[in-house]
Amino acid sequence: MMKPSMLRSLHSAVSRRSSHLARRGYATEPVPERKVAILGAAGGIGQPLSLLIKLNPLVSSLSLYDIGGTPGVAADVSHINTRSEVVGYQGEDQLRKALEGADVVIIPAGVPRKPGMTRDDLFNINAGIVKSLAAAIAKYSPHALVNIISNPVNSTIPIAAEVFKKAGTYDEKRLFGVTTLDVVRAKTFYAGKANVPVAEVNVPVVGGHAGITILPLFSQATPQANLDDDVIQALTKRTQDGGTEVVEAKAGKGSATLSMAYAGAYFADACLKGLNGVPDVVEPSFVQSNVTELPFFASKVRLGKNGVEEVFGLGALSDYEKQGLENLKAELKSSIEKGIKFANQNVHVILNRVDQTVFVYDPELVIQFRRMYDVPGNISLVMELARRMVQDKGHPLLFETFLVISKRFSGAFRHMLWEVDALSDTNMVLLSETALRSPVKDN
Ligand SMILES: NC(=O)c1ccc[n+]([C@@H]2O[C@H](COP(=O)([O-])OP(=O)(O)OC[C@H]3O[C@@H](n4cnc5c(N)ncnc54)[C@H](O)[C@@H]3O)[C@@H](O)[C@H]2O)c1
Repeated sequence: MMKPSMLRSLHSAVSRRSSHLARRGYATEPVPERKVAILGAAGGIGQPLSLLIKLNPLVSSLSLYDIGGTPGVAADVSHINTRSEVVGYQGEDQLRKALEGADVVIIPAGVPRKPGMTRDDLFNINAGIVKSLAAAIAKYSPHALVNIISNPVNSTIPIAAEVFKKAGTYDEKRLFGVTTLDVVRAKTFYAGKANVPVAEVNVPVVGGHAGITILPLFSQATPQANLDDDVIQALTKRTQDGGTEVVEAKAGKGSATLSMAYAGAYFADACLKGLNGVPDVVEPSFVQSNVTELPFFASKVRLGKNGVEEVFGLGALSDYEKQGLENLKAELKSSIEKGIKFANQNVHVILNRVDQTVFVYDPELVIQFRRMYDVPGNISLVMELARRMVQDKGHPLLFETFLVISKRFSGAFRHMLWEVDALSDTNMVLLSETALRSPVKDN
């Protein structure tokens, strides 16, 4: 059994400064009511994240949303004797309730990496998920601070920004890419090499959240340690490859979930403190930025009552860091542009509903699914769906195209139907004649 002291330290890991606030800062006033919604709450990150947010005394209402599995997670977590009331919401028709009144929305929804994949390989699936969830946020909780964990963060933040812009709700102060895990890793790895207590370590991490776009600034690390250049280079590389280290160790069973849940809970706690008026809450995050010529960039951000109060510059960089900064710009720029392009494409993810099922016709997407998942096909299911769809729509062209895709890529469909189940009609776009006529590419 876990000792009471262990439980206490787990609790304090995410709420050290919060409980301090609850006890001292608000000794005479109540801690404000705050609702946090987690979208993707039943997943590998979502579950431990739900647990950690439940331990946060700044939260009064915890809303757990996923396409499935949330009643169980919510029932489980709700038995913990901490402040927040927990409600589980499952399926798209409950998304509105899950979001309404949220002060902070955390999104770990999406598929994680498998060995050999880059974060960008997740783009086609996660981009659609983030796009549809962002559209729902714009409708139901437009004033929430949005913390996006879903990868590739370098693209999903620009996607959400575009969706919010189109909906007329964009406020750059309220949109954050969660890069905290890079900071958590940099601190841990640095403490090990510098032989200093990890709890005292601070390391800014700037740039983006993928490979070389992750740029830890060890020259600014505190407590200072005179580490050799080759040690700094190895630390930089390990921080950049930290995610891959976990993906490979998990050998096909996903990416970082526990350390990510910690990082996500830590960053959400910083956002809540900012909202509550705690001064000097500064954490790195991937936000709209003027720090470089790139429109989005991770650097230290001061969090306040409106979200981002100040985006800090880079400070003095070593020559190695200056070079790293130049090296990351092209990749980060292209990931940002890819996100913007995706969000503005009219015909990219093409959806229709049959029996509450939403599925995707976009040929590129089908190919991506096929590459990533080797799931046995179920042609009869696909055919049945196609038949009903034709009945629904009476569109012969649609039927033809659907058959072409299903014949070539039927192996991908079962998983795909499940996977994109949550894509909503909020991002439904009409199947244009052009898209229908374009040949299905094989690879
Ligand atoms: N920012 C980071 O540092 C970081 C670190 C690790 C992982 N990640 C990313 O976080 C994401 C989640 O990873 P995971 O390991 O928890 O994956 P997972 O597959 O275990 O869980 C994802 C959850 O999202 C849910 N989901 C899918 N579509 C949804 C939708 N439209 N609405 C609501 N929920 C939906 C799934 O049902 C599932 O429960 C991945 O994109 C991963 O790459 C980011």
